[in-house]
Amino acid sequence: MSTRTALVTGASSGIGEATARELAKQGYHVVVGARRFDRVQRLAAEIGGTAVQLDVTDEESVRACTDALERVDVLVNNAGGAKGLATVAEADLDDWRWMWETNVLGTLRLTKALLPKLIASGDGLIVTVTSIAAMHAYPNGSGYTSAKHAQAVLHRTLRDELLGQPVRLTEIAPGAVETEFSLVRFNGDSERAAKVYEGIDPLYAQDIAEIVGFVASRPSHVNLDTIVVKPRDQAGPGSFARRS
Ligand SMILES: NC(=O)c1ccc[n+]([C@@H]2O[C@H](COP(=O)([O-])OP(=O)(O)OC[C@H]3O[C@@H](n4cnc5c(N)ncnc54)[C@H](OP(=O)(O)O)[C@@H]3O)[C@@H](O)[C@H]2O)c1
Repeated sequence: MSTRTALVTGASSGIGEATARELAKQGYHVVVGARRFDRVQRLAAEIGGTAVQLDVTDEESVRACTDALERVDVLVNNAGGAKGLATVAEADLDDWRWMWETNVLGTLRLTKALLPKLIASGDGLIVTVTSIAAMHAYPNGSGYTSAKHAQAVLHRTLRDELLGQPVRLTEIAPGAVETEFSLVRFNGDSERAAKVYEGIDPLYAQDIAEIVGFVASRPSHVNLDTIVVKPRDQAGPGSFARRS
């Protein structure tokens, strides 16, 4: 039998990168996809995996990646992120398009393309990294919260649609994790990004990766449905205990 294979999207940094390392430690052959090919190439060399240049917003790119995979046992829908913090009144439609294309349609493209292979594996697992933004609305966040809600609903719908098939589904909804997330949200403004984590002990990518590792190592009959994880210093999207 060939080695169990996991595809991690958005593996060039943060949660995806740490998750790929964690799954490789468990013996998976990990296929790491992202747009920044040099980064996934380095990671693949380190963990004995396969690097793929993948843009989840691009139909052709997704097809090339998914067609090339002989087997897939685990899909981690992790590629995503936020752009900007604007009120609805001042919403930037391009930022909205980016968030919906990446988080929602990206998850749809990958999941749809790989469902037959996940089912054929006889013991498939889909982990989707949503956010606490998939559970709450917050001011200035509607582009991201609406995209994460939509991504989560797409994932949750599969729980019924795939009932009876050998595929488990786990949604992981993190609060604040210190990654490149805020740097992307604020268009490379590192000072503004750093402020998000100022005075708190945030989660780190490794914290989420270990949760994915735990999920993937449960026996086949155990389906961890939804996991919400926040730093101790965070109660909700805008509710932090900051030490000055
Ligand atoms: N950090 C947080 O506080 C937090 C909280 C809750 C949920 N999340 C979610 O966790 C996931 C991972 O984010 P992160 O915190 O690890 O942020 P990150 O460090 O910015 O990583 C985001 C990853 O997504 C990839 N990506 C973005 N657009 C892509 C595209 N079109 N095609 C393929 N890959 C793409 C990036 O790779 P390339 O740029 O190289 O393509 C990168 O590897 C996201 O879905 C995010 O919404 C994050």
